Amino acid sequence: MAELNTPAAGVPVLDAATLAKDFPLLSREIHGRPITYLDSAASSQRPTAVLDAMREYDETTHANVHRGVYTIAEEATRRFEAARTSVGRFIGAPDPGREVVFTKNATEALNLVAHTWGRTHLGQGDVVVLTEMEHHANIVPWHMLAAEVGIVLRWIPIDDTGRLVLDDLDGILDGAKLLGLTCMSNVLGTLNPVADLAEAAHRAGAVVLADACQSVPHLPTDVTELGVDFLAFSAHKMLGPTGIGVLWGREELLAEMPPFLGGGEMILDVRKDGFTPNDIPWRFEAGTPPITEAIGLGAAVDYLEAVGMDAVRAHEIALTAYALEALDARFGDGIRIFGPAEPEARGGVLSFALGDVHPHDISQILDEYGVCVRAGHHCAKPLMRRLGVNATARASFALYNDEHDVDTLVVALDAARKFFA
Ligand code: ALA
Repeated sequence: MAELNTPAAGVPVLDAATLAKDFPLLSREIHGRPITYLDSAASSQRPTAVLDAMREYDETTHANVHRGVYTIAEEATRRFEAARTSVGRFIGAPDPGREVVFTKNATEALNLVAHTWGRTHLGQGDVVVLTEMEHHANIVPWHMLAAEVGIVLRWIPIDDTGRLVLDDLDGILDGAKLLGLTCMSNVLGTLNPVADLAEAAHRAGAVVLADACQSVPHLPTDVTELGVDFLAFSAHKMLGPTGIGVLWGREELLAEMPPFLGGGEMILDVRKDGFTPNDIPWRFEAGTPPITEAIGLGAAVDYLEAVGMDAVRAHEIALTAYALEALDARFGDGIRIFGPAEPEARGGVLSFALGDVHPHDISQILDEYGVCVRAGHHCAKPLMRRLGVNATARASFALYNDEHDVDTLVVALDAARKFFA
């Protein structure tokens, strides 16, 4: 892994260009130019340490977990459970071994809460509060539950700067049973005051489900400090593989929740007349779990911990500030950047409209420069409607991006603007 540079002040600083060398894909060329990967909010790249960990596990240890009593099966089980512990420690889970559930992705984690906690605790007329900046994975499961049992959705609106409007928070939360909110918007970059919102929700008697897909990879996370009850995130946005996500839940809530999917692994006993569910967290992990992927996620956590999440956050604030200034300097009023203007109030996600150039056209021209950005509705259609657009282009950063990437983005965007002038 790359060396880290710690200045005298004691604030860790990361060297993005050096870290980038740990990521094989970032040495690739696109259309004869070095790749500039600015789509980590959709999926981040993986360092050699993660790829190697998965390969080493597959080549030396692979067997099914929690079943065999032979050597490699026991080793595989130990390594799988060690990955669970690492992930839990990374987010400050009080009891990682019981509170970290492996799912297919964050979407499945959010659905798990809606299906199990939701079906047990919510009925006709019960209120679930969401924010206007949620992405579909934290909206559609609740719409489905509304259709099934008649829950009612209330929404915390956003203002024109892309922040939540909290003037009537207590009124919105009054009588609510659950608050579902994103820690960081995947479109606006807005960092929400999750701890304050969780406190208000608890005062109102609501349980808090936080979608941390965009925040866990980019800033230090401590579930106790956040004060939430459930936290969902995905490995593939935090330098890990696809195919595995995480639901963290407070032990007492998970312990009284019924199973999600049925099958092997999630049972203690099965009879002709019924079954006895397993203890947590395995109760929620039916079938053979994503074992290789858990090993990869554990390695991704090790990598992020070695770099230091404070350093990642500091780097991304500085890079976001640089990008906001560079875009403003080149395009002025010609570019509309969504979300808060202050870099400290947001993560490294910049959604924008460049004049009236369609985001897909922007993305296509940028691709000719080797620049990868996402264009579209970002799985957040209610938010797009609130912003008055059908789609945006979005550049998003990770710890391997630097000022040079931003400079390349600006040059390519200028080309797009001239092409469509
Ligand atoms: N994965 C989605 C994104 O790109 C939600 O933001």
